[in-house]
Amino acid sequence: MSHQTLAILDFGSQYTQLIARRVRELQVYCEIFPWDADQQTLEALQPKGFILSGGPTSVYDEGAPAIPNFVLNSGLPILGICYGMQALTQALGGVVAPSQSREYGLAQIDVVADNPLLDTSQQVWMSHGDRIETPPPGFVVLARSSNSPTAAMGDLARQRYGVQFHPEVHHTPGGKDILHRFAVDICGITPDWTPESIIQESIAAIREQVGGARVLTAVSGGVDSSVATALAHRAIGAQLTAVFVNNGLLRKGERQQVEDAFGGSLGSNLIVVDAVDTFLNNLRGVTDPEQKRKIIGETFIRIFETEANRLGEIPFLMQGTIYPDVVESASSGKAHTIKSHHNVGGLPEDIQFSLVEPLRYLFKDEVRAVGEALGLPASLVWRQPFPGPGLAVRCLGEITAERLTWLREADHIFTTELVQSGYLHNRGPDAPTQVAQAFAALLNVRSVGVMGDQRTYQQTIALRAVTSEDFMTADWAKLPADLLGHVANRIVNEVPGVNRVVYDITSKPPATIEWE
Ligand code: XMP
Repeated sequence: MSHQTLAILDFGSQYTQLIARRVRELQVYCEIFPWDADQQTLEALQPKGFILSGGPTSVYDEGAPAIPNFVLNSGLPILGICYGMQALTQALGGVVAPSQSREYGLAQIDVVADNPLLDTSQQVWMSHGDRIETPPPGFVVLARSSNSPTAAMGDLARQRYGVQFHPEVHHTPGGKDILHRFAVDICGITPDWTPESIIQESIAAIREQVGGARVLTAVSGGVDSSVATALAHRAIGAQLTAVFVNNGLLRKGERQQVEDAFGGSLGSNLIVVDAVDTFLNNLRGVTDPEQKRKIIGETFIRIFETEANRLGEIPFLMQGTIYPDVVESASSGKAHTIKSHHNVGGLPEDIQFSLVEPLRYLFKDEVRAVGEALGLPASLVWRQPFPGPGLAVRCLGEITAERLTWLREADHIFTTELVQSGYLHNRGPDAPTQVAQAFAALLNVRSVGVMGDQRTYQQTIALRAVTSEDFMTADWAKLPADLLGHVANRIVNEVPGVNRVVYDITSKPPATIEWE
């Protein structure tokens, strides 16, 4: 990257990615590194300053992460946040007071010395155990709170700062200004990380990487693969071939959406493979969720391979990998697998390609901003998450063409009603939205109903709508009863195989968002 950069050292905080996102929102480029990243890697980036994240440990724990010497010796500005401040204190000869209890929640800090980082007393979010007893030599206390005699400290001559609170979270309303002052005023970075500059740089990088060679990609209708495809098309035009596999597990209208979005620009280089029957055949009789995912992943790979072979020699494969995937796979310790996420567009493991990953350094919100700047339709850019295995994991029990049709219709009724009433957005960031994800699932139970004078014995639709920041946790959406009633009425009247509708009122955890 030719941008002036901040390096964020990760000491294990759950907020590290949030720090990076806040900095990027300031149009300042930054990258996250493990706290023990090697010197060469970091220096290659020529950072203008360092942010040290928080972390779960105490500086007194055995093997507690420490700040590398080359960072301390670089002479560059440093901002330590929470654990980062404690590690800075420990490294530079101050005293950290171990504590048995945590200070957690909102606090008022009072600024007690003129400084370039904190201009006013303000409300901040605290979440720490240990605190600073004595700042290191050369540091002065910049702010105090009732529980933290050193809520912020600074060595103004060497441009090193520490804050006990979390400027990156929304609960610290002035946090963004603090990060801005650090990045722009203290490190001297010019904020120029804009969608337009991202596009220009990505185009140059793609051209440089692939030269005159052909590139193959898969589009699924998802945000990442769509934006990557639009970007690559801008960069290399007819050298790009995109394969769209219609697996029959898409929602209503999605196939058309993809063809509308890309058919015009890619022309005959958009290859639509109709593989509905192949997927249905391979899934026949399968009811186990993980088995479904596995079959869908494998079927996709085989079809994609066949297409790739048919298209002749193509040395490059483009993937829509985004920055959180890169950061998470670089950090140690894999979480327990609750669901395997086999995605459409997932990399065939045994296939011989060099990878092109134009979104590798972008957060989701940046991907969306780039998509908008490239002129992709809002319905694609702001699409809610949709699992790679598609409706298969929302069609409990056996998957048949008929059951998929019922599910697709019910889902369409629910989501269009939510969009119309303003609860679900597909119109951009300013839409008055409450619901992060909403869909219908078709259950594998039948129940008795009565329609007219007839007894019915039919299927059940479960409606699922959640609010969520990051989809790691979620709360069920408190939708108005009459809206739910209206949707239920429409579904039983308009979808032939369904005579009962229920609303899912479990949160995640203990439930997950999807039913399978
Ligand atoms: P769960 O159900 O685990 O889902 O709470 C969290 C988020 O991930 C999506 N999801 C998937 N996405 N492939 C995907 O690409 C999958 O197999 C998959 N399973 C769940 C889900 O829609 C939600 O947004």
